[in-house]
Amino acid sequence: MNIPFHQTSLIKTRDGSNSLFSEQFNTSFHSLFGAIEESKHVFIEQGLKPLLNTEQKEISIIEIGFGTGLNTLLTIREVLQKPITINYHAVEFYPIDFEKINELNYFKDDTALDALFKKIHHQEWNQTRAVLPHFNLTKHWLQIEKFKIPIKADVIYFDAFSPREQPELWTEDIFLNMYSMLKWPGKLVTYCAQGQMKRNLKSAGFIVKALPGFANKREMTIGLKV
Ligand SMILES: C[S@@+](CC[C@H](N)C(=O)[O-])C[C@H]1O[C@@H](n2cnc3c(N)ncnc32)[C@H](O)[C@@H]1O
Repeated sequence: MNIPFHQTSLIKTRDGSNSLFSEQFNTSFHSLFGAIEESKHVFIEQGLKPLLNTEQKEISIIEIGFGTGLNTLLTIREVLQKPITINYHAVEFYPIDFEKINELNYFKDDTALDALFKKIHHQEWNQTRAVLPHFNLTKHWLQIEKFKIPIKADVIYFDAFSPREQPELWTEDIFLNMYSMLKWPGKLVTYCAQGQMKRNLKSAGFIVKALPGFANKREMTIGLKV
């Protein structure tokens, strides 16, 4: 596979966690106010946690934009001790080289989590592997525009670069595809709150809800398939 590695440089965010700046798309991978705190606020608190408070014993998650693997790692961390099976599908077309991954400082002082972080990055693309006995990960090396899998997810972490950098990833057509890969009920969560993006979500069939955003962002968005 001729993988086009992402051109990035390391940055530090205000909660002490590192992130990356994409030279390719001229934007950062996370909020400068805190990579870990932003991912927790948007994807863990609003995407994952409500599902953990139900009777459900198996949860399927799609992540749009695997990037540094932070959302995947935070999801693993959240379910480590829980009697629940997770099927996690992440999509990425511009993976990060291992040298950069090694410079990221997510939970470095937690040996077990750090080992899992390395493990998810070293996992082959397009193969399903049990990262933990109850956590199955598939990393799809593919363009988001072409991503289609015959599973139905409970939640989609929609974490593409913003519509300013990549308007083509926030269209009605993309959201129609996302809608088709969700269970009923299911939901899509994103940090983004742009007006046109919300209208596109609505046209694709989602019920659109605004929630308080992270740090300097007034809102974030949830699209419900109900
Ligand atoms: C905001 S970052 C994702 C951050 C990531 N979720 C994390 O936890 O670090 C957006 C990601 O989308 C990826 N990306 C951009 N365009 C893409 C495309 N057309 N298809 C697949 N991935 C793409 C980028 O390479 C980048 O990793």
